Amino acid sequence: MELGVGTGLVAEKLIKKLPEIDFLGIDFTESMLLKARQRLGKNVALHHENVLTMDLERKFDAAFSNGGVWNFLDKGETEYTFFSHLVKVQNIIKSFHNVANHLNDAGKLIFSVQGVHKDYEQTLSNGITYSQKIFPMPHDKFEKHYIFS
Ligand SMILES: C[S@@+](CC[C@H](N)C(=O)[O-])C[C@H]1O[C@@H](n2cnc3c(N)ncnc32)[C@H](O)[C@@H]1O
Repeated sequence: MELGVGTGLVAEKLIKKLPEIDFLGIDFTESMLLKARQRLGKNVALHHENVLTMDLERKFDAAFSNGGVWNFLDKGETEYTFFSHLVKVQNIIKSFHNVANHLNDAGKLIFSVQGVHKDYEQTLSNGITYSQKIFPMPHDKFEKHYIFS
């Protein structure tokens, strides 16, 4: 089960590599799911759910999040920071309880590790320039702006 499947980029690679798995993705953003549906086709299970409230009435061997609901940021020098789209700590705890309820006894919750968020700019193939800018906020939080020009 992928938590925060987004537009299905990682799901697509995973299903290609392991076609035998029974994959299911959830996301609470309908526009992202629409893209995922176009990418993955109608045979892949995609559910419009919030990880905090989902009740899928089944259990999984593994759940993972890649830049989805939670992540680890690699700050270098073997220092990692936990990062979540869930802003309140009590919601992070609640989300873990809810995921645990969807896992088999030996089920695993897997997080990806990504680099720290930083400012950068890149020209896309269609001539559009993508840039992102990070605005630090109190309590280790930040706001990220995406700019297309
Ligand atoms: C950066 S995208 C992840 C993309 C995807 N995992 C990939 O690697 O291609 C983050 C996604 O997590 C979803 N998300 C964040 N919080 C969520 C929550 N509480 N429940 C469900 N989806 C959530 C967002 O809607 C967004 O689509």
